[in-house]
Amino acid sequence: MCGIIGYVGSKNAIAIIVEGLKKLEYRGYDSAGIAIFDTNNFHVIKQKGRLSALETRLARARRPLKGHIGIGHTRWATHGEPSDINSHPHVGNKNKIAVVHNGIIENYKQLKERLEQKGIRFVSQTDSEVIAQLAEYYYDGDLIDTVIKVSNALEGSYALGIMCIDEPDTLVAIKKDNPLIIGVSGHGHFIASDVPAVLKYTNKVYYLNDKEIAVLQKGAAQFCNTDKEKLQKTLETVTWSIDSAEKGGYPHFMLKEIMEQPKVIKDTVNSILKNGENKNIVDNFDIKRFNKIVMTACGSAYNAGVVAKYVFERLCRLSVDVELASEFRYKDAVVDEKTLVILISQSGETADTIAAMREAKRKGAATLSIVNVIGSTIAKETDFCIYTAAGPEIAVATTKAFSAQLALLYVLAVRFAVQLEKISKETEKELLSEIKALPAKAAEMLKHIDFIQKYASTCIGYKSIFFIGRNIDYAIALEGSLKLKEISYIHSEAYAGGELKHGTISLIEENTLVVAISNCGRLYNKIMSNAEQVVSRGAKVLLIGNCQDIKTNDNFSFIGLPKVSELFSPSISVIALQLFGYYVAANKGLDIDKPRNLAKSVTVE
Ligand code: G6P
Repeated sequence: MCGIIGYVGSKNAIAIIVEGLKKLEYRGYDSAGIAIFDTNNFHVIKQKGRLSALETRLARARRPLKGHIGIGHTRWATHGEPSDINSHPHVGNKNKIAVVHNGIIENYKQLKERLEQKGIRFVSQTDSEVIAQLAEYYYDGDLIDTVIKVSNALEGSYALGIMCIDEPDTLVAIKKDNPLIIGVSGHGHFIASDVPAVLKYTNKVYYLNDKEIAVLQKGAAQFCNTDKEKLQKTLETVTWSIDSAEKGGYPHFMLKEIMEQPKVIKDTVNSILKNGENKNIVDNFDIKRFNKIVMTACGSAYNAGVVAKYVFERLCRLSVDVELASEFRYKDAVVDEKTLVILISQSGETADTIAAMREAKRKGAATLSIVNVIGSTIAKETDFCIYTAAGPEIAVATTKAFSAQLALLYVLAVRFAVQLEKISKETEKELLSEIKALPAKAAEMLKHIDFIQKYASTCIGYKSIFFIGRNIDYAIALEGSLKLKEISYIHSEAYAGGELKHGTISLIEENTLVVAISNCGRLYNKIMSNAEQVVSRGAKVLLIGNCQDIKTNDNFSFIGLPKVSELFSPSISVIALQLFGYYVAANKGLDIDKPRNLAKSVTVE
């Protein structure tokens, strides 16, 4: 979704903002823009399309723009089509105040009408323009007062970066229900939607809370609330390295992130098992007071929940429901103080997951989040938060964050099972040692990359690709199917093998590919019989699993996985599935890291 970057300092703001916008591209966008205070005026350049189009516009400017304060934005259209005029920054009629906005202003129509009655002329179809116009309308010489008045008038969600021509050394920011961080470096201050946008310049950040105002100048960062009372905030150090936000020689972030998975699984497991904040939460968690677990999330994080349901139910003998957050929030869920609601989210900012979390809390349930981005809304608002150690994930299609979620959920399930006295200490030890062995198994899996690449190159012509599995193999089939359709644009569905004959089998014809997953030894014969059913109807099958002695032929191919026990096998099969999706898309020459219409972090409903 939209991204914000802003800078005030002694360096050339243009270069810093363009660089920051590049780092925000992964969030998904359809246009981009920049406003710079140059000499004594704002220069605003906005452009529909990719960032390269904006860069071309900047390069063609009559004279090179330069300035020490500016704001930039990548827009993912919600109100008004993607167009130059609807792009941010927005400037008021008097060309006095420039604004970048993430979020949605719910009462923008009423505000717009009021301003239009006062003769203010709107030029875009966006909800965001109202902020710039309103700010100019209120402005009477004090930008902070203006920002307070504007925030009091706005309903909805927003992260804002604001500059005023009369206060050319000051950049002001405020947020509500949309993330915004403040970066601090020796040469100036930044505002940004997320850490990767500023990581090249600093790893020192303040996390802004709702309705906190940041007032930034070259050498000073001050904070206050909307009553203008000063706030003391803690400067935090981000441990993510700059390398983790760079491609490091790989053609795409997605491939790099797939390859990082052995390390990410290891780091995540260590962060729970070794001393540290994660370990404290896990060890001191009183699972006995709950009679039910509900996991809720969106996209791949939801699929991690589906996998975890099998693991938790098997080990903890506790009932686990998995709900799409977008459904949970509106369904009047049956949860109460005896329910533990687990929210799973890479970004910690997904609007539906945030709403589900708040709904669960309203109903008195305890909330535990599994989040990758430190300081994010879900991390801060849940009763307990355990962080995955995936580092920054840039490709829109998640891979390493998903694997980190799985690893963390496995350890949690094992720990809960011990506390619930469903497994012995001995079994716990065995299970934990299997989990600790996963990074090595994942690395072994990655050795199949050449075969998968070659096989995937033969798959680009398929109109539909189905994924089947049983039990936990079905759970991971959901993720394989989602990965493929997200990035290759090939229609795909995942089915529980046993459900094929209840409908889906009618879709099987010549030239359909069915990817069958088999890591549940006890269900091997079942899934093989499903595979035979589709082959006899003209489909081709790719079997992925840790089974042995598989005879292959033109219609039946096989990728053998390292042996891992059934419960933890999704961590290995998913790597094969990710690579398959990746190479199908790569062979189609698609924009893998930024698939059409998708956003990395969906911060609006
Ligand atoms: C978007 C992304 C998915 C992600 C989902 C949930 O749809 O494209 O990759 O799984 O959001 O995001 P979250 O940050 O909550 O895990």
